[in-house]
Amino acid sequence: MRLISLPATLSIALAAAIEPPEGHPWLAPGPNDYRVPCPMLNTLSNHQFLPRDGRNITKDKVVSAMSSALNFNESLGALMFDMAIVANPEPNATFFTLYQLNRHNVLEHDSSLSRSDTFFGNNHVFNESIFNETKAYWTGEILDANMLANSKVARQLSSKAFNPNYTFTSTIEGFSLGEVSAPIVAFGDLQAATVNRTLVEYFFRNERLPTELGWSTRTEIINIDIISRLTQIISNASSLITTSEAVVSSPRRDLHAGIY
Ligand code: HEM
Ligand SMILES: *[C@@H]1O[C@H](CO)[C@@H](O)[C@H](O)[C@H]1NC(C)=O
Ligand SMILES: *[C@@H]1O[C@H](CO)[C@@H](O)[C@H](O)[C@H]1NC(C)=O
Ligand SMILES: *[C@@H]1O[C@H](CO)[C@@H](O)[C@H](O)[C@H]1NC(C)=O
Ligand SMILES: *[C@@H]1O[C@H](CO)[C@@H](O)[C@H](O)[C@H]1NC(C)=O
Ligand SMILES: *[C@@H]1O[C@H](CO)[C@@H](O)[C@H](O)[C@H]1NC(C)=O
Ligand SMILES: *[C@@H]1O[C@H](CO)[C@@H](O)[C@H](O)[C@H]1NC(C)=O
Ligand SMILES: *[C@@H]1O[C@H](CO)[C@@H](O)[C@H](O)[C@H]1NC(C)=O
Ligand SMILES: *[C@@H]1O[C@H](CO)[C@@H](O)[C@H](O)[C@H]1NC(C)=O
Repeated sequence: MRLISLPATLSIALAAAIEPPEGHPWLAPGPNDYRVPCPMLNTLSNHQFLPRDGRNITKDKVVSAMSSALNFNESLGALMFDMAIVANPEPNATFFTLYQLNRHNVLEHDSSLSRSDTFFGNNHVFNESIFNETKAYWTGEILDANMLANSKVARQLSSKAFNPNYTFTSTIEGFSLGEVSAPIVAFGDLQAATVNRTLVEYFFRNERLPTELGWSTRTEIINIDIISRLTQIISNASSLITTSEAVVSSPRRDLHAGIY
C-alpha cells in the first residue's frame, strides 16, 4: 500500500510546484474588469481568488483569497479589509470594487514603485518607465531591505522634485512601508528579509503568481508580527543616515550607468 501511494503523493507535490495554483489558472483581465494600483489584488483577481471582474470584494472573499493564495492568517486578511473599506464611499459598505481603490489619496498615493503619480497620468496601470526607475535601485539578484528601501526613497525624491502636487503624509508612509515589504511577505525569505528579484519583476509585470518560476504558497502562516517586523526593517533601511560603518549592498555598476 505504502509503495503505491508514495509515488502518487510525490507526483502531486511536484505538479503543485510547477503548475498554476490548483483550480486557479491565470487569465488576463478583460476590458470590463476593474483593476487597481495593487499588483497583488490584480493578481488574485487574475487567478480568481478574488472576483475576476474586480467587483463586490467582500470581507469573506478577501480573507479567503489571502489565506489560500498567500497563507495569511484570517485575522490579518480581515484587518486589511477593514483598512481598505474606506475606499467605498457608501456608509457601512460591506464590499469595495477594485475601481474604488484608484481614488487618489484615499489608499492610492504618489511615488508608487510601478505606477505614475496622478498628476502625471494614469495612477493605476503598470507603467514601465516608472518601474524602470524603481529597478535601477534593485542592484542584486536577491533584493534586500536596502535595495527595496532605496527604490522607495528614490521614487519619493523623484515625485518631490518633479510633481508640484506631491503628497505623502505619515499615514501614507505607513501604507508605503507595507507595500514595499510586501514582495518579501509574498515571495521572499521572511527571516533574512530578502526576495528573489526575478520573481518580483515577473509578479509586477505579469500580475501573476510566479508559480512557473518555482514559487509556491509558503507553509508558514503570515501574522501581523511578521509584517510589523518587515515594515520596521524597510523603515530603518529608508534612513539616509548610517552608522560609521558603510551600508553593505551588492552594487551592479551597469544598472547605475543610466542614473549617475
Ligand atoms: C485588502 C488587501 C489589500 C488592499 C486593499 C491593497 C491596496 C493597495 C493599494 C490601493 C495600493 C496602491 C498604493 C499606491 O498608490 O502605490 C497597493 C499597492 C501595493 N500592494 Fe496592495 N493591497 C492589499 C493587499 C496586498 C497584499 C496581500 C500584497 C502582497 C503581499 C500587496 C502588495 C502591494 C504592492 C507590492 C504594492 C505597491 C505597488 C507599487 O508601488 O507600484 N497588497 N495596494
Ligand atoms: C456580493 O457577494 C456576496 C457574497 O458572495 C453575495 O451575497 C452578493 O449577492 C453579491 N452582490 C452582488 C451585487 O453581486
Ligand atoms: C491568527 O491571528 C490571531 C490574532 O492576531 C492570533 O490570535 C492567532 O493565534 C493567529 N493564528 C495563527 C494560526 O497563527
Ligand atoms: C451605519 O452603521 C451605524 C452603526 O451601526 C448606524 O448607526 C448607521 O445608521 C448606519 N448607517 C447607514 C446609512 O446604514
Ligand atoms: C508613465 O509614467 C510617465 C511618468 O509619470 C508618464 O509620462 C507616461 O505617460 C506614463 N505612461 C503611460 C503609458 O501611462
Ligand atoms: C493634488 O494634491 C491634493 C492634496 O493632496 C489632492 O487632493 C489632489 O487629488 C492632487 N491632485 C493631483 C492631480 O495629484
Ligand atoms: C525600460 O528599460 C528597458 C531596459 O533598459 C528599456 O528597453 C525600455 O525602453 C525602458 N522603458 C521605458 C518606457 O522607459
Ligand atoms: C531566482 O529565481 C529564478 C527563477 O526561479 C532562478 O532561476 C534563480 O536562480 C534565482 N536566483 C537566485 C540568486 O537564487
Ligand atoms: C530598527 O532600528 C531601531 C533603531 O536603530 C532598532 O532598535 C530596531 O531593532 C530596528 N528594527 C528592526 C526590525 O531591525
